[in-house]
Amino acid sequence: SPGTPPTPPETTVTDKYAFAFDIDGVLIRGGRPIPEAVETMKMLNGENEYGIKVPYIFVTNGGGKTEAERCVQLSKQLELEVSPGQFICGHTPMREMAEQFNTVLVVGGEGEKCRIVAEGYGFKDVVTPGDIIKDNQDTTPFRKLTPEEYKNSRARNFAEVKIDAIFVFADSRDWASDQQIILDLLMSKGGYLGTRSENFDEGPPVFFSHNDVVWSASHDLTRIGMGALRVSLEAMFKAVTGKDLKTTAFGKPQIGTFQFATRLLQQWRKDTHGIDSPVDTVYFVGDTPESDIRGTNEYDEHSESSWYSILVRTGVFQEGTTPRFQPRATVDTVLDAVKHGIEREY
Ligand code: G3P
Ligand code: MG
Repeated sequence: SPGTPPTPPETTVTDKYAFAFDIDGVLIRGGRPIPEAVETMKMLNGENEYGIKVPYIFVTNGGGKTEAERCVQLSKQLELEVSPGQFICGHTPMREMAEQFNTVLVVGGEGEKCRIVAEGYGFKDVVTPGDIIKDNQDTTPFRKLTPEEYKNSRARNFAEVKIDAIFVFADSRDWASDQQIILDLLMSKGGYLGTRSENFDEGPPVFFSHNDVVWSASHDLTRIGMGALRVSLEAMFKAVTGKDLKTTAFGKPQIGTFQFATRLLQQWRKDTHGIDSPVDTVYFVGDTPESDIRGTNEYDEHSESSWYSILVRTGVFQEGTTPRFQPRATVDTVLDAVKHGIEREY
């Protein structure tokens, strides 16, 4: 009737399906959103022909910052609020290992950021390569600490410190010196720097936050990533000791990461949308067949919900090659992926 303002179209939240997004090569490249990313997020938040909102989470292998810091950055890039309650990065599941070890070496990332992340996870005693170089600068013949690194590093007598585990949290900024220090520990007597084991079989375990050999950054072609550091370390250990080195990687495609993602999504749907029932289908949008598509397909076989893999052409996977793991669908961009998922539901 005249005088009554028009009622805005209702948006409802679906309890049937959800999306999970990889970040690099899908939403972001080299710190900038890919052109369709902002519109995609709007579509999920109700700007679609069905007037439906779709819950979503982010599952990246990247890392090197606290989840909270990363979400602030992602919120700016995607022009909407991203909460740590809907975000997992490569090292997030490592928080569950904090109780297992006393002193750990944390490798990778900028400055002190990864030490801060590890301490935030509850790791009791976190050592960085900088601490070791500060204690003995002969450790790395070709790397000297910058004045800032020297100031922030915490020297101590490493002859008396037993390092119980090595965690590579983020990409190394100096492969040679980081690998030298990791190798020293792997060849040590029980994690004491400056010692050498007779059989090289008593060094601490090494954990990587993911295993992506290449990833999609700002360069047109893929760039080497943490998985490349891993294979190079394993090859170097073999060359120096004659022994095989076993290392462990977290992140996608590990089933544990997808289980973690399932718990996160369940909690997120409950806390923000009041949905208590299990999700029927999770559409996972990724650019890397070896981690995103493989992980989603393998998890689909274990999970009660259906996990549906969608491969985009904006990142690691390039047209003209055959993906080593077959997605359920291949589309150009993340926007097409979301359209594909939503249309499939109606
Ligand atoms: O270092 C990050 C990269 O390997 C992958 O990130 O978001 O594509 O899983 P993402
Ligand atoms: Mg990616």
